[in-house]
Amino acid sequence: MLDNIKSLQAEVEKFSTTSLQELDEFRIRMLGKKGAVTLLFGDFKLVPPEQKKDLGQAINVLKNTIQDKIKTLLSELKHKDEGPSGLDLSAPGEPVLLGSRHPVSLIRNQIIDIFKRLGFNVSKGPEIEDDWHVFSALNFPPEHPARDMQDTFFIEQDPDILLRTHTSSVQVRVMENEKPPIRTISPGRVFRNEAISARSHCIFHQVEGLYIDRNVSFADLKQTLLFFAKEMYGQDTKIRLRPSYFPFTEPSAEMDVSCTLCNGKGCNVCKYTGWLEILGCGMVDPNVLESVGIDSQEFTGFAFGMGIERIGLLKYGIKDIRLLFENDMRFLEQFQNAL
Ligand code: PHE
Repeated sequence: MLDNIKSLQAEVEKFSTTSLQELDEFRIRMLGKKGAVTLLFGDFKLVPPEQKKDLGQAINVLKNTIQDKIKTLLSELKHKDEGPSGLDLSAPGEPVLLGSRHPVSLIRNQIIDIFKRLGFNVSKGPEIEDDWHVFSALNFPPEHPARDMQDTFFIEQDPDILLRTHTSSVQVRVMENEKPPIRTISPGRVFRNEAISARSHCIFHQVEGLYIDRNVSFADLKQTLLFFAKEMYGQDTKIRLRPSYFPFTEPSAEMDVSCTLCNGKGCNVCKYTGWLEILGCGMVDPNVLESVGIDSQEFTGFAFGMGIERIGLLKYGIKDIRLLFENDMRFLEQFQNAL
């Protein structure tokens, strides 16, 4: 009998399984009603008294070994269902990286927001344009340098198909398709054949503004832009308009805001002038109105155009426009909570 117990003991110690069914079969084979251990206890009754102590102990050890074995195998099998072993399932999770809007989008949305409050709607036009919408309808003379390959990316010539160099092309499309009163802003991407530097890029973004109605005056333009400047850079911001030239506006002006960093006192960002140039503007040239079939005797209007990147560089004190296009996480992450 002792031999029998010993060989069972060895069998139990060797036993291993990865299947619940096999484990159950093992349990029944050992501990079931007709199982090996139950039979041993039956035989035990017939054992002479002087052998009872040793045999009894041996059977009990065997029974405990079986029960421990079943317990360990069962818990191993359960953990296997929960996940691969070696993984600490109670470890805290990795934080999920949240995306955020690109600074150019943030500033564009802010500009749109400000003009929406003045009743401007948003219009869009194609990035691939024809000569008419980018130049001819806007009163560019045929020999104007912007029509040169050095300034404009041409896709095809005769007839000219090109990447728009400014969002003023959307003005033309809106005026062709809508009747005054028109009050619209057109955000979008523009392209210029320029060397990339800290201050300029060959791809950037503009927001165009156009207002056409009866009796629109230069005073309306100035007041609209003053409202914009104060909303964008703070209520203490001052503006000034300097005479300038664009083929499609007459008179034309460039607008400066008081330096956002030194409040007009003079610093190296404003080159000690106290002023920063932020946009071009003017009264829509009667030639432009006529080219799109709007009666320039009845209607007048103003237009303006600004670079989104430039507005943002000045707002956030960013020194290099290229940072906006390099998608460096260390830069972009700083705008996660902006606006
Ligand atoms: N389109 C001009 C530019 O890109 C800006 C502008 C727009 C000027 C509207 C006047 C009126 O520089």
